[in-house]
Amino acid sequence: MAMIFDAHAHYDDDKFNDDRFQVLSSMPEKGVCCIVNAAVDIETAKLSIEYAEKYSYVYAAVGLHPECAHKAEEGYIDRLKNLAKHKKVVAIGEIGLDYYWDTVPRDVQKRVFIQQIELAKELNLPVVVHDRDAHGDTMDILRQYKPSGIVHCFSGSVEMCREVVKLGMSISLGGVVTFKNARHSVEVAKDIPLDRLLLETDAPYMTPVPFRGKRCDSSMIKYTAEKIAEIRGITVEELLNATTENACRLFNIEL
Ligand code: NI
Repeated sequence: MAMIFDAHAHYDDDKFNDDRFQVLSSMPEKGVCCIVNAAVDIETAKLSIEYAEKYSYVYAAVGLHPECAHKAEEGYIDRLKNLAKHKKVVAIGEIGLDYYWDTVPRDVQKRVFIQQIELAKELNLPVVVHDRDAHGDTMDILRQYKPSGIVHCFSGSVEMCREVVKLGMSISLGGVVTFKNARHSVEVAKDIPLDRLLLETDAPYMTPVPFRGKRCDSSMIKYTAEKIAEIRGITVEELLNATTENACRLFNIEL
């Protein structure tokens, strides 16, 4: 049976407070072979590592999300660097730019994004990029600093996706592709070379149809995979095999 690799989830979120460990424990029997828990700050980075220590199939990304970029006090890069030494930390993330909420001044967001890309390059780790309504500046920075990694929950156009691929990066797609208004995502899902595509949930958010509005967990990638397989005209198994292989290669994980 093809296995699910969830390249991006947040099991530290409050929405899992009642049953976090039950949900995580049940993942293998639901076909999930790997989960990367993405941090948004130092606190959630530590939690991500805690879950990764508890479950063989959970890995951690550590970093400051753009909405948490104001928490980048002196020494935060060293703190991240220390956390990233843990053998189950597979990426620096999630990092990037968020001009939708725009809660942190843009120059601060950019500085913190760039500093963390430089850290990832120093540590030879991929980055997990968050880009919301900030395509222009995100691409400028990726073009200039050329990290390896993914743009998660990719929301750009086909043209932008092609440029991301040209830079050597990959993208991950989540539940949005199953939404009725997901024109961009559908085009991207069709156009992206199969070896550059990963699947994610962004759990507990972005729940795919038919569970939209409910809490998401990694097993629901099945519905996202069914939709993308249909768009590409391949089997779900082929899609899951390829995306799991891509994620393992990118995050340097041996199954
Ligand atoms: Ni996220």
